[in-house]
Amino acid sequence: MPGIVIVGTQWGDEAKGKITDFLAKDADCVVRYNGGANAGHTVIVDGKTYKLHLIPSGVLHGKRVYIGNGVVVDPQVLMDELENLRHEGFQPDLHISDRAHVVFDFHKLEDGLQERLKGNLRAGTTKRGIGPTYSDKTARFGIRIADLLDEEVLKSKLNILINLKQKIISQVYNENVKLDEQEILKEALQFGRAISDYVCDVSAEINEALDRGETVIFEGAQGTLLDIDHGLYPYGTSSNTIAGGACTGVGVGPKRIDKVIGVMKAYISRVGTGPVPTELKNSIGEKIREVGKEYGTTTGRPRRVGWLDLVPVKYSIRLNGIDELVITKLDVLSGIDPLKVCVKYKCEGRTIDTIPADIRTFERCEPVYEELEGWQADVDWRRIAKEGYEALPEQAKEYLQRIEEHLKVPISIVSVGPERRETIVINK
Ligand code: IMP
Repeated sequence: MPGIVIVGTQWGDEAKGKITDFLAKDADCVVRYNGGANAGHTVIVDGKTYKLHLIPSGVLHGKRVYIGNGVVVDPQVLMDELENLRHEGFQPDLHISDRAHVVFDFHKLEDGLQERLKGNLRAGTTKRGIGPTYSDKTARFGIRIADLLDEEVLKSKLNILINLKQKIISQVYNENVKLDEQEILKEALQFGRAISDYVCDVSAEINEALDRGETVIFEGAQGTLLDIDHGLYPYGTSSNTIAGGACTGVGVGPKRIDKVIGVMKAYISRVGTGPVPTELKNSIGEKIREVGKEYGTTTGRPRRVGWLDLVPVKYSIRLNGIDELVITKLDVLSGIDPLKVCVKYKCEGRTIDTIPADIRTFERCEPVYEELEGWQADVDWRRIAKEGYEALPEQAKEYLQRIEEHLKVPISIVSVGPERRETIVINK
């Protein structure tokens, strides 16, 4: 099964990092196809926590890891991440696309200024410069990794870009910030030199790996509801988070994808603004947030949490062509009884079971819940993970079964804790 996409089916933070790490042991390489340092992939191995923002999660298995052209690369984050991994004894076998775009500090500044201007329409971004970098890419002002390796090209491109940004900062936003062109150029060249050995044509390498019959994991960042085209516009991110993004963000044809694995949390979480129909603003929500440690990996912001909503997941199944589902953080729901699952919405007398394009309609959607029996608080998840699916509490099995019945897609893996070993593979 050579080309496997791992995609988030909700609002991101579905624990894709843990699942990518888990599946990476049987893969040859892992490639990131979208987003940038807005992502925060947490992997816990033998009690030690690793937080990755740019480098694909397969790095902890010593696999070849790739940053595709669809990713926007923050030099400082990448250098820090490499150094931390080396400090922990890893020797990342990293490959960076020459076509990936570079995030500069002025992009981060612009990110914050744009959010201020947008008021209620702000997405609550991570302020990592993601939107402005993708905007520059689309407007063809952007700087690519390949440009960092050619001083003359970089100088002329940066000159235009910095002049433009200076005007935007000073004349549009009235900010008293002076961009230092020489300093920005110097740092960019330094970064280019530091990463030059890793730079390559990732599309060519991944296609060759697939030709050799290797297993390649395409690791998605963020979730389907944050996708620039199909997410809750304008409350999402600026890249294609969906499985199709793996083709454009790496440079492989659609026929090279053999399997799409959708990752969903056993409840929902959302960091940022915009409507969330099943949000819980009560003690159950607080409990889920605390037990599930629902605080942003990148920003530390408390995440909004709520009952599992199957409408976004159904929507994701359609958009991504999901073959199998992975449910994460099932353990977090222990001791909550009853459990509620949203199966559709009611909106002004109508039934809706998809995500509308119009945010005002989505804001008016009221969840229609199915109630299920919860399970006890004190469950020995490590023992269950060792023994397998049959050892799960009966009510937890019923919870999973109802999800499968509604979604009509098999659940192949259940995660019951943050550690690699707290993972159950279902062989029905
Ligand atoms: P940006 O990607 O930083 O521009 O943020 C746009 C929106 O996507 C905001 O609502 C963020 O909170 C959200 N977002 C971006 N990256 C992630 C992520 O990795 N997990 C969850 N939400 C994210």
